[in-house]
Amino acid sequence: MKTKKIGILTSGGDCAGLNAVIRAVVNAAAQLGWEIYGIHNGTDGLTEEPLSYEVLTVHNFSDTPWPRLSGSYLGSLNKGVKMESLSEMSKRFGDGVKKLGLDAVIVVGGDGSMNITSNYCKGAGIKMVGIPKTIDNDTPITEFSVGFNTACQVCTDAVDSLNLTARSHHRALILEVMGRDAGHLAMQSALAGQADVCLVPEIPYKIDGVINKLKEIKKSGRNHAVIVVSEGIKTENGQHLSAAKNLIGEAVYGGIGQYLSAEINNRYKDFQTRVTTLGHVQRSGTPSCFDRMLAALFGAKAVELLANDQTNMMVAWKNGHVEAYSIDDVVKKGTTLLDVHSDFVKAAHALGMYIGELK
Ligand code: F6P
Repeated sequence: MKTKKIGILTSGGDCAGLNAVIRAVVNAAAQLGWEIYGIHNGTDGLTEEPLSYEVLTVHNFSDTPWPRLSGSYLGSLNKGVKMESLSEMSKRFGDGVKKLGLDAVIVVGGDGSMNITSNYCKGAGIKMVGIPKTIDNDTPITEFSVGFNTACQVCTDAVDSLNLTARSHHRALILEVMGRDAGHLAMQSALAGQADVCLVPEIPYKIDGVINKLKEIKKSGRNHAVIVVSEGIKTENGQHLSAAKNLIGEAVYGGIGQYLSAEINNRYKDFQTRVTTLGHVQRSGTPSCFDRMLAALFGAKAVELLANDQTNMMVAWKNGHVEAYSIDDVVKKGTTLLDVHSDFVKAAHALGMYIGELK
């Protein structure tokens, strides 16, 4: 049988565990005698001239710290693609794959990357398997994506730290976390860190609701509080705040923590507020046991799928198992937001956290 030549690329915002995924794919493929091409800088490595890639062997990862580190050894790309350029990009992607003689491509990406690259692959007739990764945990079907667990730990550590300094200074400290339009990262780290308030894009809130919670805390005799806020919530009058734009001009969220702080200060003087915007440290941190385990299982499964010629699939974690789903079904579902009826939301509410105006 002909030796398979497989490409692997990481696409979208980076996160902890990407290198563990690459290592898992390389090792599993090497067991079958396949050649692995690591594509640099997301899809750019295949669509820009000259092509940018390197042949990967087990030696790239066996005696180096890479699999244990965050970031992407291959580089990644978080810029979006204008849909009008899709057919041109798809052609360039297909040409790149053909030039390298690749039989298939493994894409490690989130919901946006699954959408874009599966369209490229469909347009160019390329076989693909997807591995979900994102700190937002919003990739459909899979219960967990690589990188989410570590990001939750980074946020939880921040809540813990803020709690201590809040206590020293009798303050209400606000932590703005990432997650785009999904509140998973905010909610799970608020639960783990025992925050007093958690605001997520999926649940409407009132500043007065936050203030009532602060008053209740004060009345109970406690002089400090921690508020976790997801970057994707809107102002009370329904606006998203943005601090930057990506390479195709789309707004990147940021600034809602400062807005909340000012609003709380205007209406309530008993707690001073300060804001920590955690930013890109959430995308790093030492990859957790769970993320490395998921990386190993996903990498092995992706190679198994290719060996069985089952392509245009995404691997997923469901009910304690690694499974595979059609990428079309994943893409059709769009983005997985926080379920307001989930156990996470129920528990937060039951524990007395203010999480907005739940119906
Ligand atoms: O999707 C991952 C993510 O970190 C989001 O949580 C965040 O909104 C966005 O990427 C930030 O993008 P950038 O890397 O372009 O700043």
